[in-house]
Amino acid sequence: VDLQPFNTLSLPVWADYFCTVHDTAELKAALGFVNEKQLPVCLLGGGSNSVFKGDFPGLVIQIALKGITCEEQGTRRLVSVAAGENWDHFVRHCLHSGWYGIENLIAIPGSVGAAPIQNIGAYGVELSACLHSVTGVHIDSLQEQTLSAAECELGYRDSVFKNRLRDKFVITEISLELSSDAQAQLQYPALKEALPDHYPPTPELVAQTVEVVRASKLPDPATEPNAGSFFKNPIIDVEQAEQLLKQFPDLPHWPIAEGKVSGKVKLAAAWLVQHCGWKGRRMGPVGVHPKQAIVLVNYEGGSAAELLALATAIQQEVFNTFSVSLDIEPRVY
Ligand code: EPU
Repeated sequence: VDLQPFNTLSLPVWADYFCTVHDTAELKAALGFVNEKQLPVCLLGGGSNSVFKGDFPGLVIQIALKGITCEEQGTRRLVSVAAGENWDHFVRHCLHSGWYGIENLIAIPGSVGAAPIQNIGAYGVELSACLHSVTGVHIDSLQEQTLSAAECELGYRDSVFKNRLRDKFVITEISLELSSDAQAQLQYPALKEALPDHYPPTPELVAQTVEVVRASKLPDPATEPNAGSFFKNPIIDVEQAEQLLKQFPDLPHWPIAEGKVSGKVKLAAAWLVQHCGWKGRRMGPVGVHPKQAIVLVNYEGGSAAELLALATAIQQEVFNTFSVSLDIEPRVY
């Protein structure tokens, strides 16, 4: 099966097997096939955070489970949503229903089931702020399990699903703890600056503003094939950050105290890449977006090898200049 329509980088790759599953029973049947044939498995939601190095020698399962339910308890809204729902449609549905908490995460491409894997975050809010639980199926045993938010071990663009449960667990549903009481989250500087003065920051206005800011920087995969941020913002030791800041005082950085981690500093990957002169630069059919230096774009039907060669060239130059490693953010198959 041709995977080009199923990955937002539009990479021209093929899969040996492909199926779409609409409920847990279909998912288990597909996993049974994978186990019997001992095939590699690739789970696809929106295909907006997946990079294929080449043809995929196994079964690609497109997750198409649908449905949204809500339990009300005072102002609490416990919302359960199936993994195959489109994330952005879901955010809009919540906004219209008066279930607040994820307005800042509007317009992120991809599916609901992918959201906890990389703990999606934007404009000052991460999924971890409202995740209640994640339900799914273990690939080996076909057992269903619900993990609490704590068991998901969410960190910056990280979770148990990228580590211990990588390629072992398929998310079928997530539950979020939302509220009918709106609380505007305005700590992200670019969001605060873009909000019009003199208006109360209603959830609708926050969502609208995030959409405008996003659209001004991030290319639409439909016209400029991309996978959002291609690199994570690196997290380094305070001591190294202090050394770097002596040499590069303008380098944007934030202290982080994430879970048990402290004494660490997060740097803006985009600034590092831009400083090395890569912003807007092309390498054959692929290139770096002119408005966001960590977004790689497949402008003219480039191959996976061409895209990964660009990523490697950027990583090398950033390492040579700053002694900082840039990690690739999407899943590479
Ligand atoms: N910057 C540059 N050059 C650029 C772009 C940005 O120097 O070309 C600087 C900015 O001046 C700013 C800093 O880098 O000081 C951060 O930039 P920005 O606000 O654009 O966000 P980001 O850190 O590059 C992250 C997420 C995005 C998310 C935005 C907004 C990661 C890997 N990326 O990007 O998420 O939308 O913040 O919250 O954490 C994604 O994960 O796919 C994604 C798009």
